Amino acid sequence: MTPRWSKVAGVGGYLPAEVRSNQDLSALVDTSDSWIFERTGIRNRHIAAADETASSMAEIAARQALLMAGVAFDQVDLIIVATGTPDRVYPSAACLLQQRLGISSGCPAFDVQAACSGTVFALSVADQFIKTGAASTVLVAGSEVCSRIVDWTDRSTCILFGDGAGAVLLTASEQPGILTTRIHSDGAFEDLLYCPNPHAAALAKQAEAAYIHMRGNEVFKMAVNTLGRIVDETLEACGLQQTDVDWLVPHQANIRIIAATAKKLGLSMEQVILTLENQGNTSSASLLLALNQGVRDGRIQPGQIVLMEAFGAGFTWGSALVRF
Ligand code: UT7
Repeated sequence: MTPRWSKVAGVGGYLPAEVRSNQDLSALVDTSDSWIFERTGIRNRHIAAADETASSMAEIAARQALLMAGVAFDQVDLIIVATGTPDRVYPSAACLLQQRLGISSGCPAFDVQAACSGTVFALSVADQFIKTGAASTVLVAGSEVCSRIVDWTDRSTCILFGDGAGAVLLTASEQPGILTTRIHSDGAFEDLLYCPNPHAAALAKQAEAAYIHMRGNEVFKMAVNTLGRIVDETLEACGLQQTDVDWLVPHQANIRIIAATAKKLGLSMEQVILTLENQGNTSSASLLLALNQGVRDGRIQPGQIVLMEAFGAGFTWGSALVRF
């Protein structure tokens, strides 16, 4: 049987118009531009308007990806949205995206929730569908409205997060595309980074606020160590060397975490696609927003090898190694 690979045929991205700077945040909480930039690498983040949602932002990114791929909407035979901030508890953001795009073929559409690692989990699922022949044209989006689950009085978290959406269109190909995906979870660390479900909390009569709670320093250390290991695991799975990697497209959580992973790979920071400074941490949207930037500005070229990686609540972590 001819091998089937998942090829990246199109990318897209969307950022809301409102920009909130470190300066703006220093009027809300006891912080400063220098503290935030030095500790995180972030200067600005985009904030969704009241009428914007995970599916509305994903729609804009998805239309760009479909246009770049030159694929008709009714050819899409699977839609996966990675999000921790869906429009509704249900239907899924993927169903709402399907409706927004007017795809009435009945193709499956579902969300994947793996916090900041959501996109690598979604890419992994999409890749399995394509490899087995269960799907041929898969739309994957990562879309988040983090600003609605952030406590704007908590300086340890509100400085980190932003809103936005990224999308990628994968098509079946006889030429190598996604070389491997590696995904992992360990629920033992669930209390280091979490956001309560307000409905469940009400039922359990818990008083905890339904915002992001994070023990940042502990998460930081776990992220650096775990991402170092996933890099080795990913290259080993494909029999490749560090020198084979052209670009690192990381989840954009903290410049110090990203720099540690680049160092582990022996890559210079010029080989890292960074969006962090002006977008902050957009959770599951960040990888695809960075990929969109790297492809559209011409840095990522056909034939090059791109390593994507992410770490998030759960803990969850993973990677996707892709030949463009
Ligand atoms: O994307 C999902 C995964 N998430 C991550 O990967 C995030 C990982 N964690 C981080 O990026 C970092 O831990 C943070 C950026 C969140 C925090 O940086 P840190 O170097 O770990 O700082 P810290 O939490 O150890 O806090 C150091 C000090 C504390 O004060 P004391 O106790 O030393 O007096 C904090 O209260 O900085 C204080 N602090 C702040 N000061 C000014 C915490 N937040 C702020 C702030 N402005 N915004």
